Amino acid sequence: MKVNNPYLPYPVRIDSVTTETEDRNLKTFKFLFLNPEDEGKFSYMPGQFAELSVAGLGEIPIGIATSPTEKGFIKFTVNRVGKVTSHLHNMQPGQIMGVRGPMGNSYPWDVLEGKNVVIIGGGFAFTTLRSSIIYMLDPANRGRFENIEVVYGARMPGLLLYKDELAAWEQRDDIKMHITVDGTNDPNWKYNVGFVPTITKEKAPSAENSYAIICGPPIMIKFTLPVLTELGFPPERIISSLEMRMKCGIGICGRCNIGTEYVCKDGPVFTLAQLSQLPNEY
Ligand SMILES: Cc1cc2nc3c(=O)[nH]c(=O)nc-3n(C[C@H](O)[C@H](O)[C@H](O)COP(=O)(O)OP(=O)(O)OC[C@H]3O[C@@H](n4cnc5c(N)ncnc54)[C@H](O)[C@@H]3O)c2cc1C
Ligand code: FES
Repeated sequence: MKVNNPYLPYPVRIDSVTTETEDRNLKTFKFLFLNPEDEGKFSYMPGQFAELSVAGLGEIPIGIATSPTEKGFIKFTVNRVGKVTSHLHNMQPGQIMGVRGPMGNSYPWDVLEGKNVVIIGGGFAFTTLRSSIIYMLDPANRGRFENIEVVYGARMPGLLLYKDELAAWEQRDDIKMHITVDGTNDPNWKYNVGFVPTITKEKAPSAENSYAIICGPPIMIKFTLPVLTELGFPPERIISSLEMRMKCGIGICGRCNIGTEYVCKDGPVFTLAQLSQLPNEY
């Protein structure tokens, strides 16, 4: 019997690289599996992550930006911060590297079925939220969810991810978009200006039969949580995703634990109710 080795990455070829932001620090990598049968083995749901593996340099955990409804490729959006991410930013289409995973839990899709879903994102943490939106808007899935409302913010227009998709979602009537920036001098800016917590408060998505998924910088999350509480979202209906330092990604090395939970295996997705039971080490 052939058993998959969880430490062994699937070989992938870089198909294309898209620079997302005007500061050029965020790039989206589209990968094709070298062995087509590996795509079937890499079966994932929105919210999960993978370890991107660069030979001789190391591995980094990155959220999966594609939805499983997008076939034939997988995408990851990578912020250039250090050793491995800088090396990746210099790689070109055609080059070969590895992807190990999928890892961690996903957003709780069975629980979200039949509910209103409020997505709140800030900065480059929008990647698995993109995956979630594409997944819910897929014709095969849209009927499984009630209203979808999105608040997504960046510091300035040039730092928003996936601009073409944001513009396309703005045009649809089965998703309500509230795109915002902290500030801008652009006279043609036609969306909101204001911090994510402020815009969330102003747009006041209904908490009735609703779940909120929130991902972003800690400061954004800190100031948005009281707004959600004020709107009537209880802690068990607020879902977030944690970014911890990781190594093995499969619950063995003990690098990522918070109290009794391994973020790589038990998370990275937790409800606020679950997080309130853990030591404040994240
Ligand atoms: C579940 C999960 C999902 C993630 N998804 C994404 C994603 O979609 N896109 C993305 O760009 N990044 C994501 N990250 C963060 C990413 O893993 C780190 O930025 C990356 O590991 C840095 O590698 P490096 O070798 O370039 O940096 P290093 O040279 O190791 O470090 C450079 C700097 O980054 C900081 N850093 C390193 N790792 C992390 C980390 N895990 N969290 C916070 N700070 C860190 C270091 O403290 C240091 O200041 C995710 C992390 C986790 C755990
Ligand atoms: S990264 Fe090894 S236990 Fe989580």
